[in-house]
Amino acid sequence: MTIDDQKKIAAEAALEYVQNGDVIGVGTGSTANYFIAALATVKGKIDGAVASSEASAERLRGHGIAVMALSQTGDLPLYVDGADEATRHLHLIKGAGGALTREKIVAQASEKFVCIADHSKLVDRLGEFPLPLEVIPMAQSMVARRMVKLGGQPQLRAGFTTDNGNIIIDVRNLDIENPVELERRINQIPGVVTVGLFAIRGADVLLLGRESEVEVLK
Ligand code: 5RP
Repeated sequence: MTIDDQKKIAAEAALEYVQNGDVIGVGTGSTANYFIAALATVKGKIDGAVASSEASAERLRGHGIAVMALSQTGDLPLYVDGADEATRHLHLIKGAGGALTREKIVAQASEKFVCIADHSKLVDRLGEFPLPLEVIPMAQSMVARRMVKLGGQPQLRAGFTTDNGNIIIDVRNLDIENPVELERRINQIPGVVTVGLFAIRGADVLLLGRESEVEVLK
């Protein structure tokens, strides 16, 4: 089974968590796109979706699924999204697609966060994948210096602007021994809008596509 097939079976397995009449949160990225395609096959079951990016909103609408604003729906029963890295503690790195802020908002507003991924995303320790930070442009150099102090190597994601009009700094080589503590620490730096560590509010369920089955971690 290819990596894409593994993403697809993980995404399809997430349909099990969708209940009649739900408005659900939908993430961003290639695995989330498989979920949107799967969701389209049962779209009569849901009342609509809240998207974590403009790209996903457009894709949902393209499938005839109503896209709603989180400020109108209130809290959601379910959020389904991918990840760049995940541990067995269900701590995640997210943000390769640059949608981390809206992803964190929708995850925070959701009772259950079901993370969907191919098995290559499972790691013993987070940090091989560069940690994305969404940053207010004027804070770029200051935040980069703080990351160097933490032992990281920051790099501006060139030519990229987030849906919120900010920049992304990707940080390599951080020692992420304690993801919750590091998330708290980076959250306190002025100018950092969002750090791509999802540990304080990690996933509740991780569906990992493997060779012939989906492994469920809770
Ligand atoms: C986007 C994300 C994605 O969930 C993450 O990058 C995984 O993407 P993919 O499913 O394409 O591997 O956090 O900001």
